[in-house]
Amino acid sequence: MSEVVTYSREGNVGVITVNYPPVNALSHAVRSGLIAALEQGQEDSEAKVLLLVCEGRTFIAGADIREFGKPMQKPGLAELVETYENSEKPLVAAIHGTALGGGLEMALGCHYRVALNSAKIGLPEVKLGLLPGAGGTQRLPRLTGAQKALEIITSGEFVGAKDALALGILDVVDDGEDVKAAGLAYAQQIADEGKPVRRVRDLKDKIASDKGSDVFDQFRAVLQKKARGQFSPFKCVDAIEAAFNLPFAEGMKRERELFTECMDSPQRAGQIHSFFAEREVSKVKGLSKDTPVRDVNSVGIIGAGTMGGGIAMNFANVGIPVIIVEMKQEALDKGLGIIRKNYENSAKKGRLTQQQVEDRIALITGSLSYDDFKSVDLVIEAVFENMAVKKEIFAKLDAICKPGTILASNTSTLDIDEIGSATRRPEDVVGMHFFSPANVMKLLENVRGSKTSDEVKATVMAVAKKIKKVGVLVGNCHGFVGNRMLHRRGAEAMTLVNEGATPQQVDKVLTDLGYPMGQFAMSDLAGIDVGYRIREERRNAGEQVAPSWMDKLAEQNRLGQKTMAGVYKYEEGSRNPVPDAEVERIIEGFRKEQDISSREITDQEILERCMYVMVNEAAKILEEGIADRALDIDVVWIYGYGFPAYRGGPMFWADQVGLDVILAAVEKYHADVGGEQWKPADLLKQLVADGKKFGDL
Ligand code: 3HC
Repeated sequence: MSEVVTYSREGNVGVITVNYPPVNALSHAVRSGLIAALEQGQEDSEAKVLLLVCEGRTFIAGADIREFGKPMQKPGLAELVETYENSEKPLVAAIHGTALGGGLEMALGCHYRVALNSAKIGLPEVKLGLLPGAGGTQRLPRLTGAQKALEIITSGEFVGAKDALALGILDVVDDGEDVKAAGLAYAQQIADEGKPVRRVRDLKDKIASDKGSDVFDQFRAVLQKKARGQFSPFKCVDAIEAAFNLPFAEGMKRERELFTECMDSPQRAGQIHSFFAEREVSKVKGLSKDTPVRDVNSVGIIGAGTMGGGIAMNFANVGIPVIIVEMKQEALDKGLGIIRKNYENSAKKGRLTQQQVEDRIALITGSLSYDDFKSVDLVIEAVFENMAVKKEIFAKLDAICKPGTILASNTSTLDIDEIGSATRRPEDVVGMHFFSPANVMKLLENVRGSKTSDEVKATVMAVAKKIKKVGVLVGNCHGFVGNRMLHRRGAEAMTLVNEGATPQQVDKVLTDLGYPMGQFAMSDLAGIDVGYRIREERRNAGEQVAPSWMDKLAEQNRLGQKTMAGVYKYEEGSRNPVPDAEVERIIEGFRKEQDISSREITDQEILERCMYVMVNEAAKILEEGIADRALDIDVVWIYGYGFPAYRGGPMFWADQVGLDVILAAVEKYHADVGGEQWKPADLLKQLVADGKKFGDL
């Protein structure tokens, strides 16, 4: 008998228990153990009903993703589920934690399902570039009908136990906390009532009612917008449709074919890289797991602007009280008003109850005095990018805050060491760079100064987790990881427009790659003044920063969405960027002024110059130890800038393009365009010489 799956009996219920931490994934050992345990249950004449239950924090959370890409050892998952469904004794699955992917498919192979109230179910395969490949696309629609199955499978979102009960996916929800007790009670009831086996594959009602409906085509049309560029969501629809058009066994075959197509797609490789990268980033090189972490039970924020307000919401959302300090009452009132509006909007969309809105708002207090920061555990400064202002603020904080308060800056570019030098406690100073909109974007780029203590680094990483962000710890340099690369892309994009491209052509190349928005639409969202101020700051520091047509926009108060005109123009109440002839004139004027004759620029050149310039910079970032691993950079770009997860992040993408191809292009642009940005990174040259990839580092 395998150690990870055991069989025992309680009264007349045969209990099959999976115990394979951390998440009871269906590894080969678990799959074969489940077959052996089922056989024991069948042979046990005392067992009238069989119960499948898991130890630890969760029911089976899916196939073992670490086995993907390796040859599948028998029994396969679909075969395992079928064997369970074929059982002549009624089988009950008792669910706690999360029944996901192959885990839910196992539960659907059982004849009855009970779950704790706190449990969730889902088929998140689509988030790995896959579709449910063990009958999920064939069995779920037989319980829920087409529409719900389409929603659940193509979104990969989890469904709470109560909702799953209402959808017919579960039979019973138990309010207790002991899953085994809940399972045994339900199994006993089934034994007592002499209930028969009930196989999902034999259910016909929902299939009959949705057969031939146009729900599939309608859904595909919706996905064209929602899942633009993605492969697996569309394959999910095809597989679900097969459940309605084909007999069960043939539907299963169709599911297998489509699953294999997804498995072989580069998007699957990218998504799975993203999945593990997201988990790896929390394991910081050189920071031991036992590093003490400070309590953060109260937070102060300086600045009630867009960033400060968004940051405050993150803490209020998890029950941590926040004090926001502003200079003027008017600005404070405006900021607090926007926070309320944001929460109210979430309530309108049904994401929060009115009570939750009030509870969260009650946790956010406004103030005009830094004195209110005396006893907070963490202060995050979120004022505009100006070193002198930031230093003044940090000196004040140093004088007011209690010992042990973490002093963080939300700066997106500036030197954390210099900011820390304004205090007598640089070991408590750190960067916490949130991404706009800060209440939505999942990335938190935590920046270590040269003196930041390990305890503070560990604490800000723990804070990221607490407020449900993906924290990445990076080193200190201008722009850190994300913006340092973005600035390279931004400068290149601006130059491409100087040379003859239109802003909308550049943006289209980037959105075609899978970014949610292009460089210039993003500048309009963030505010043209942000980049302008950074360029000015660098010019003031004596750096050579070439003039740009975007400076002209800023100087004409075309600051982006907030002034309804930037690189694009905006209609009242719309965020949709509309090309503007006025901007064409500004660009033309700039070209004349700078004596630039414009030329035709191909999309391929735009792609190469926008992407390779970032990859080259990223190689330098790795060389300098600003990022510890290529995957840290991937995560920064996926969660901070919307780089498509199905491409695995820019470094994973670069590995797939081929570093030799990229180096050759970088060398060409170095010769043609020139500039520090195109100087090939030593690391890139070394990797190519060694025939290696970023992923091998
Ligand atoms: N296979 C292998 N390892 C897995 C795994 C899986 N399916 N799911 C999670 N893990 C690992 C994680 O990598 C992590 O490992 P680490 O500690 O070494 O970094 C550990 O389990 C804990 O995971 P989390 O840090 O994510 O823990 P959380 O408690 O935050 O979340 C979870 C738990 C909700 C289960 C989350 O891990 C998750 O969403 N997992 C993926 C679930 C999934 O996608 N299942 C479908 C798989 S595909 C499939 O089933 C195909 C089938 O249809 C044929």
